[in-house]
Amino acid sequence: MQFNRCGKSGLMLPAISLGLWHNFGHVDKPETNRSIMHAAFDAGITHFDLANNYGPPPGSAEENFGRILKQDFQSYRDEMIISTKAGYLMWPGPYGDFGSRKYLLGSLDQSLKRMGLDYVDIFYHHRPDPDTPLEETMMALVQAVRTGKSLYAGISNYTASQTKAAAKILNEFGTPCLIHQPKYSMLVREPEEALLDTLENKGIGCIAFSPLAQGLLTSKYQHSIPKDSRAAKSHGFLQKQAITPDLLKKIGSLHSLATGRNQSLAQMALAWVLKDPRVTSVLVGVSSVKQLSDNLLALQNTEFDTDELNKINEILNRS
Ligand SMILES: NC(=O)c1ccc[n+]([C@@H]2O[C@H](COP(=O)([O-])OP(=O)(O)OC[C@H]3O[C@@H](n4cnc5c(N)ncnc54)[C@H](OP(=O)(O)O)[C@@H]3O)[C@@H](O)[C@H]2O)c1
Repeated sequence: MQFNRCGKSGLMLPAISLGLWHNFGHVDKPETNRSIMHAAFDAGITHFDLANNYGPPPGSAEENFGRILKQDFQSYRDEMIISTKAGYLMWPGPYGDFGSRKYLLGSLDQSLKRMGLDYVDIFYHHRPDPDTPLEETMMALVQAVRTGKSLYAGISNYTASQTKAAAKILNEFGTPCLIHQPKYSMLVREPEEALLDTLENKGIGCIAFSPLAQGLLTSKYQHSIPKDSRAAKSHGFLQKQAITPDLLKKIGSLHSLATGRNQSLAQMALAWVLKDPRVTSVLVGVSSVKQLSDNLLALQNTEFDTDELNKINEILNRS
């Protein structure tokens, strides 16, 4: 595994990290969860990313992860980086959503209990809250760190200007923002507009989520929607309507380009995100060990020449 420094912190993260948004809920197969975690850790993936609401049902990914940790990974806790988040709807009433101090600190306690942990390595605010003062939300992250329930603080889905404001508050209170988690892939390029520069300037790491656009940047949807795919599952967040003929044409062209680089499309898509030195890690989800093994091979070639980059841009910009 290649390890990259997370911003200007002391923490190194694996170039590929594993996310448990899908595939680790009570609706999924426990033996598959367990084999994915083992294959990941054996390959040097030391970072596992969760959130309070991952499942379904919400909370079940943390429960399943906690069970596997207890069974198999207890003696490896110091070799692992475990993150969780709060920010989306988790429980009924006004205290289980968005960014109040009440929600964040209550949720962190619940997450620790579900995972059977004394602390997480990174606690994130999952999304900006338009109504809660940013100071309140950031001070909740500071308190999580000061009380030892999290080692570092992170933010996700914040814009560049929101990130600057959040980083300023966190710095003032001696808990620098370790990391930002934006959606970033060949199909979603907003972070290139201002966020990636802001992160570099502020010394904050970047872990890109959905780098395969939930599976669109693979060859799996080329001919049909496979029965066991995310787009086919009623609880999957990938909508069938996202798979349009225009998109499939682009995916087909990207696939040919990847073949020319001796890579699968998934490998090329991950390599493309990792080519930017401002990106610390890509956060993949997998539904099988086979997918994980395929993705790990992306690290064998993360270099692109100008001609390849131009061709990719040309394909993506086709109307
Ligand atoms: N902060 C946030 O707001 C936020 C939001 C979303 C995600 N995240 C984080 O990012 C992580 C990754 O997100 P994601 O699951 O959307 O990532 P992704 O890597 O873009 O998509 C994962 C899906 O792609 C398919 N796939 C992966 N590798 C493949 C391969 N080699 N060949 C064919 N198909 C492959 C699988 O779909 P099938 O299930 O169809 O096989 C897999 O479930 C999450 O688990 C979570 O930790 C964070």
